[in-house]
Amino acid sequence: MAQELIIKTSPFPVGKAGALILFAADKLEFGPQAKKIISGSDLDFAKLAKAAEFAGRAGTAMQVLMPQGVAADRLVVIGTGKKPDAKAKPGRGLSERGAALVSQIGALRIERASVVLDGSEFDAVGVSRLVAGLKLRHYRFDKYRQSKKPEGEAPEPANKLTVVLHVADKRAADKAIAERDAVTGGIILARDLVNEPANILGTEELAAEAQKLKSLGVTVEVLGEPEMKKLGMGSLLSVSQGSARPARLVVMQWKGGKAKDKPVAFVGKGVVFDSGGISIKPAMSMEDMKGDMGGAAAVTGLMHTLATRKAKVNAVGVIGVVENMVSGEATRPGDIVTSMSGQTIEINNTDAEGRLVLADALWYTNGRFKPKAMINLATLTGAIGVALGSEFAGLFSNNDELAGWLVEAGEESGDRLWRMPITPGFDKMMNSRFADMKNSGGRGGGASSAAAFLQRFVKDVPWAHLDIAGVAFGAGGEGGNSWASGFGVAVLDQLVRDHYEG
Ligand code: BES
Ligand code: MN
Ligand code: ZN
Repeated sequence: MAQELIIKTSPFPVGKAGALILFAADKLEFGPQAKKIISGSDLDFAKLAKAAEFAGRAGTAMQVLMPQGVAADRLVVIGTGKKPDAKAKPGRGLSERGAALVSQIGALRIERASVVLDGSEFDAVGVSRLVAGLKLRHYRFDKYRQSKKPEGEAPEPANKLTVVLHVADKRAADKAIAERDAVTGGIILARDLVNEPANILGTEELAAEAQKLKSLGVTVEVLGEPEMKKLGMGSLLSVSQGSARPARLVVMQWKGGKAKDKPVAFVGKGVVFDSGGISIKPAMSMEDMKGDMGGAAAVTGLMHTLATRKAKVNAVGVIGVVENMVSGEATRPGDIVTSMSGQTIEINNTDAEGRLVLADALWYTNGRFKPKAMINLATLTGAIGVALGSEFAGLFSNNDELAGWLVEAGEESGDRLWRMPITPGFDKMMNSRFADMKNSGGRGGGASSAAAFLQRFVKDVPWAHLDIAGVAFGAGGEGGNSWASGFGVAVLDQLVRDHYEG
């Protein structure tokens, strides 16, 4: 079922509307325009609200049909709850508001809505954040479904939904919305890639998706197995050797900055399916491992965003694309491989494959581009999901300044990050009897020992590792109907805006 969402902006005053939508905070606090509409009507609004047991709490709404003295067929008031304190970062709240709007519109089966955005929070950027929330909540991945959801499930928005946003400054709002669309588009690309099943999106197909960024002015190179062999990427190649599908290393470059400016680099884990290999995973939820390329999807989505909005930055995106499968040619536990760095790795667990991919991808990126900072994203460990759930991604870094910037950008964007430790004790857990290191340090502190492993491949460059295993998919929330979240695109775009552009 094709989904269509049409968003328009319009200045005040609101003319005649079908469904007119206002927001009210706790204790029925309205913005100035909404107040005008209510007080200019013949409604005894306080009485109506009391009858509807509506007090503006978040997650609630009330509806008045044929409201007397209001030029609309129905009036819908959506509760927004407690007013946020002025110091709070507005980002997350407003996109959540947009998501709530779509849910309420869906529940009421509204197909055309006129929305009053009149609070002080709705400057142009505020409006654009709400629009992003709307679009992301409206997104769904149902290309393989012939029928709509059966009756009785949570209501979904109408297939064709038109939302007219009434704003104070239409021109400024339109400009901000267009800017933010670049980010929303990158998030949606990342979601599409993660939602796609592995039989459709294999290694070559994912590389081909990245190639499409050429049309936006991104330089894209794809390295095949012979080239990677020549570079000595024995670590990465050990992961794909049991799969019928060949490994790829995709290098994307966006050159929007000054020619001599060092780039900032983003590196993604792109395991199109992670069966665990010979250390095979249990059957329960193994299907989720089609999403084990969430890091690569985020990097690809980010490059899409930066190119779309013509960011004034030199950015490199590198994704290591493999499939971790079981076969007579698959890596065995105990095998020892040599990474591009020359360091040898005893593979004591073939299910700790993401770090094997990143080891070579990070080394290659650092060596070739000498970036001023290098940030990798990976659905790396189940352990990070145990620690942080879907509230935060784990942030590991060798650089306090970069870590601080990332935490801040996370709060601003809604992709929240929580810093976790990499201390020498975790590094020691990776020592091996037979090689320079092993790839699995055991269960305790699994997210930190994985990060310590990665750190052995980054030298002194300011580096951060985002373990997104708990947030990349399956969480719901603002993601609405999407299994994949697109986590990582928004926070890294924010980081670039704040610290690497201009
Ligand atoms: N892709 C998984 C991690 C994962 C788990 C991502 C759940 C998303 C949801 C990763 O390759 C893996 O299997 N990690 C192992 C590491 C262990 C063998 C050291 C894990 O977390 O159990
Ligand atoms: Mn694994
Ligand atoms: Zn994995």
